[in-house]
Amino acid sequence: MSLIEIDDLVVEFRTPRGTVRALAGATLHASAGERIAIVGESGSGKSTIGTAIGALLPANGGFAGGTVRVDGVDVGTLDRPGLRRLRRETLGFIPQDPIATLNPTMRVGGQLALVVRDLGGDASRAALAQLLEEVQIADPADVLRRFPHQLSGGMAQRVAIAIAMARRPRILIADEPTAALDANVRREVLKLVFEAAEQTGATVVWLSHDLDAVAKWCRRVAVMYRGRIVEDGPTASVLEAPEHPYTQSLLAAMPSRLRRGVEVRTYTEMLASQAGEPDDAEVGA
Ligand SMILES: Nc1ncnc2c1ncn2[C@@H]1O[C@H](COP(=O)(O)OP(=O)(O)OP(=O)(O)O)[C@@H](O)[C@H]1O
Ligand SMILES: [Mg+2]
Repeated sequence: MSLIEIDDLVVEFRTPRGTVRALAGATLHASAGERIAIVGESGSGKSTIGTAIGALLPANGGFAGGTVRVDGVDVGTLDRPGLRRLRRETLGFIPQDPIATLNPTMRVGGQLALVVRDLGGDASRAALAQLLEEVQIADPADVLRRFPHQLSGGMAQRVAIAIAMARRPRILIADEPTAALDANVRREVLKLVFEAAEQTGATVVWLSHDLDAVAKWCRRVAVMYRGRIVEDGPTASVLEAPEHPYTQSLLAAMPSRLRRGVEVRTYTEMLASQAGEPDDAEVGA
């Protein structure tokens, strides 16, 4: 049994324009201690699969088929206390947009204290400052007093990592920091995420756009396309000898590979030239 078992998962969102199928039969298994990157173009379903692990879908979304099991337990069958336990004891999330997910009306210190108290830990100023020091925040006393809107993007990501890691989660789900972060800050944030996971032995599921960083941090990569995992294997072999045509086009579109003279053509263009328009991801509109 794997720690995470996602099988044939279908997730749909209700929208005014009809039902959007965000996951269309996605399958992924992850063992304890593994670091897996999930890559794929915008809208392929990365954030959806990440949130589905904790049954934390937005209110207009729901499971429409398949299963998600954590430690063998089907998260779709858990009642509220069961879900709360799963999220509190097993999962840590580093969201794509940390400022939006932090409580805007509460200072950083207050939010950290809530998490730490919930775990029965030490919520003294010194202990909270220590948590921020662990994520390389140079002036923790000052940051504890700030409201989320007073944080830079990189600082907010560090706070989000501190909050996630305070729980010592067995599974850390990290959504790619928004493009708003500059390259250096993103590198530092990633380093923090993987070093923190290394220390606690957490399994990492990292949802990413950045294949070069994936090659650096993860031995395994899964490629998503239109709500399915279309390729999954050791990073070295997926990047060097991709089997699925979508992965091939994803790699061809990478800037670093561009420099090596690989032809650039998007997968959609490639499909269009082969077999007309690809079918649309929306159903029941
Ligand atoms: N709350 C929502 N309501 C309606 N549709 C949604 C919602 N969340 C996601 N979707 C749709 O589901 C699909 C998958 O979205 P998702 O956010 O998982 O993609 P992603 O791979 O994380 O993209 P990105 O790289 O831009 O973060 C997209 O078509 C998206 O528009
Ligand atoms: Mg996303």
